[in-house]
Order: sequence, then structure tokens, then C-alpha cells
Amino acid sequence: MTTSTLSTAGSPADRPAGGDAVPRTLLLLGATGDLAARLLLPGLGRLVASGALPDLRLVGSGTHAWDDGQWRRRVADSFATAGADGPRETEVVRSARYLPADVTAEEDLRRLLAACHGQTVIFFALPPAITARAAAALARIGLPPGTRLMLEKPFGTDLASARSLNAILARLVPEEQVHRIDHFLGKSTVVNILGLRFANRIFEPVLNSEHVACVDIVFDESLGLEGRAGYYDGAGALVDMVQSHLLQVLALMAMDAPPTLDARDLRGRKAQVLRATRVWDGDPVRWSRRARYTTGEVDGRRLPGYADEAGVDATRGTETLAEMVLAVDTWRWAGVPFRLRSGKALAGRRKEAVVTFRQPPRVPTGLTGYEQPDRLRIGFGPDRLGLDVNINGPGNPLELDQVHLVADFGPGELPPYGEVLRGAFDGDPTLSVRGDTAEDCWRIVEPVLDAWRAGKVPLQEYPAGSRGPDDSLLAPAPGGVI
Ligand code: BG6
Repeated sequence: MTTSTLSTAGSPADRPAGGDAVPRTLLLLGATGDLAARLLLPGLGRLVASGALPDLRLVGSGTHAWDDGQWRRRVADSFATAGADGPRETEVVRSARYLPADVTAEEDLRRLLAACHGQTVIFFALPPAITARAAAALARIGLPPGTRLMLEKPFGTDLASARSLNAILARLVPEEQVHRIDHFLGKSTVVNILGLRFANRIFEPVLNSEHVACVDIVFDESLGLEGRAGYYDGAGALVDMVQSHLLQVLALMAMDAPPTLDARDLRGRKAQVLRATRVWDGDPVRWSRRARYTTGEVDGRRLPGYADEAGVDATRGTETLAEMVLAVDTWRWAGVPFRLRSGKALAGRRKEAVVTFRQPPRVPTGLTGYEQPDRLRIGFGPDRLGLDVNINGPGNPLELDQVHLVADFGPGELPPYGEVLRGAFDGDPTLSVRGDTAEDCWRIVEPVLDAWRAGKVPLQEYPAGSRGPDDSLLAPAPGGVI
């Protein structure tokens, strides 16, 4: 099975044609941080290696007093983790510059902009509050026309801050030049949802409340905190995974077919479905759950309890597992629960969207052994498509057996961060989150966050390396029909 990646559709002037390279700059704010080293630079390295950015200047900035040499070593090391060490990548490393700066100070920002040339993309790899201050300072000094902005998640810290950040950005550049990143939208498997749903006749006609009992979108990781307390302890699983990535997956699973995959059509369809999404029954206390891991063993590694991890303030009660059930109030989906769940330090990695179909209206008398409904599974690691169907089993042909058909998705051409960076350089925001959608994602989770803050939903515990707390909000797939 081949992978569908969204080929981007920037203006022809942006595209290098026949060696006619357009000079470009990536200005990376928060360059010395963990995100840049682990995800962004490796993705950039692969994009550069693909030949898509022939004349790229990379300018890094942070509060550390690094010099160009230190920055170049960081870039080269990160590129190397993605196998990006060919001549194109070496050239980007060689010309990379580092400028220490306070990105909330106008004078410093002027200096940074003066170091950029050609088509400029500014990447904010910063905590939301600093991003807002940096954007406000940029709004005061103005940006060169055509500048594009990339903002790492979380976009704001709640609905009000997301709204106010959107208002600042609107003063800076047009909406199409703002790329709010959700790297799940750069994952080829997530994008594959579109091909699977809209380029086949066999699934789409049954993806509705008449045929579907429930949809689970689950992203369980075996990884624990991995030294990210500084960020994670202020976010927690709900904001880190559910409010962002899993709602984007929900939108792709639940939206109606867009006429084209251009940014306006695709993002319009996603926005429509998210606007119709809310906590099941309007009851966040009943339909959400939170928990955090205690000490245990994962993949043969002993993990301390979350509360004892370095940098964690246990009194904040940050959750490492979040679960909620949502309703998508549209004609197509009314009455179908969407269960979203993500947790860390869990046994086994379960990363998939599962559509559980309703039971057949009637299994003919004489066919025995019906136990499980059929299910469609879209795996996000391993990247594969699965279909669980009931057929007549071996032996007694009238006894049913469930078989599991599986097809692997091919790996994407670029890693997710390479894909979203390509979108920004090509001027194509298809794979980024539109401003109103970013606000809606906060609107959807806010009742849950409020209920948790008010202590109305207890913080449960689960040992690291377990499957999480025993009970679940819905009988999860696989295992039972709700
Ligand atoms: C990140 C979260 O956005 O996504 C992490 O901050 C999470 O906590 C990660 O582990 C999962 O994405 P991926 O691409 O590593 O599967």
C-alpha cells in the first residue's frame, strides 16, 4: 500500500524551478530547546535532503549565549539523527547562524529580522505565553511582506488566550500565512484517513450513526516523562495529546468529504465537524477521566512514579492519562460516542482509531458463535490498516470466527515535522490548524478542564507498565460492544 502525502500547492514563485532557487530563511525562536533538537531539526534535515529548499539560511535564536559554532554542531547532530548529512544539509549547517536574543524585545527582534533574507518563515518553538509576547512585539515593529509564521502547540493555554493570540497574529500577517502546527497532520498515516475514506466506496457509506456503534481514538504510549517536566507538568495528557492531536484525528475521521484537498476545503470541513463536537451529554464529570502513573516497570525499565519525577510539582495533580467521550452533533454522527484517550508509561503501545460497527440486524439462526462486531482500525504506529470481520470458521462451517485483515501503510516520504515545514515553505496551510479551529479545540475541552480543576473528577492512579486504570468510560474496543 502506498502512502498518500499531501503535495503542497504554494505559489509558483515560491517553487525552485530548474535551479532558479528562491532564497529562504528559517528563523527559529527557541532554537536551543528540546523540540528543536528532537523533532524540528531532524525534519528540516530531511526536507533539505529532498532538495526542496535549495537556498536555505537557518538562523537560530535563544536566550543561551551560544555562538555559531555551538549552533552548527547542534544542527549537524540533529540532522545526523535523521540520516541527513549529505552535501545539501552540510551547506545549511555551514551557513547557519546563531543570535542570542530576548524574543520579546523589539530591538532584538529587529536584529533577528535583519539576519533573514528572501522568503522568511519564523518558527516559534516557545511556550505559549512567550509566543504571545514575541508576536505582540513583532506586531509593533512590523514584518516583511510575505513572512510566514509557524507556531508550535499548545496554541494558547485556554480559549481566552488562544483568542487573544489569534487577534495578535491577525495584526501581523493574513491567516493563510499562519501555520499552527499539529505534527499529527504531518503523519502519513493520519493523512491516509482521507484516501481510505474518500477514494473508496466501501467504507464511506457505512460511516454514520446507522452503522457505527462507537469510535475510539486511542494513543497509549510506553514512554514516560522523558525529562520534559518543564513543559509537561503544566500541560498534562489532556492538553498535550487530546486537545490537540486526537481532536485533529477526530475531525478527519468524522468530517464530510471535501471537494478538494486544498486548504480552504479541507480545513472548512474539519472546522464544521469540530464546531459540532462537545462533551457527551454535556456532562464532563461523568464523561471524563484522569489518572497518573505510579512507580513501575515499562519495557524492562524501572520508572519512578510521575509525582517523583525530577521537576514535577506533585501538588499540581497533573494527569498522565486522559480520557473523554465526545458527541459529534451532526446528522451523520448524532448518537455515536467518540472516545478519546491518551496515556503515558502504559504497557504496550496502542495507537489507533477504531470504528466499531453495530451488530448486524439479525444473525441468521444456524450461524453460531457471533461474539464481536466488525471493526475498522487505523493504526498510527505501527502504521497499518486493519479490518476485523466475522466469517465462517474452519471446522464447522456454520460457526463464526473473527479474522483480522491487515495491510501496512508505506512510510511517508518525510517525517511529520518535515511535512509541516514543507507546508510553510510552500505557502500551503492545508496541514496546519486554522485559527477558529484552534479556538474550538479549547472550547471542546474546557468543560473537562474546569471540572478537573474544581476537583469534581478524582485523579486516579495506575502503575507504570500497566494498562491504565481498570475501569473505562465506555467498554473499549477490543473487548465488547457498548
Ligand atoms: C507530542 C507530545 O506532541 O506528541 C508527546 O508532546 C507525544 O508527549 C508525541 O509523545 C507523540 O507523537 P509521536 O510523533 O512521537 O508519535
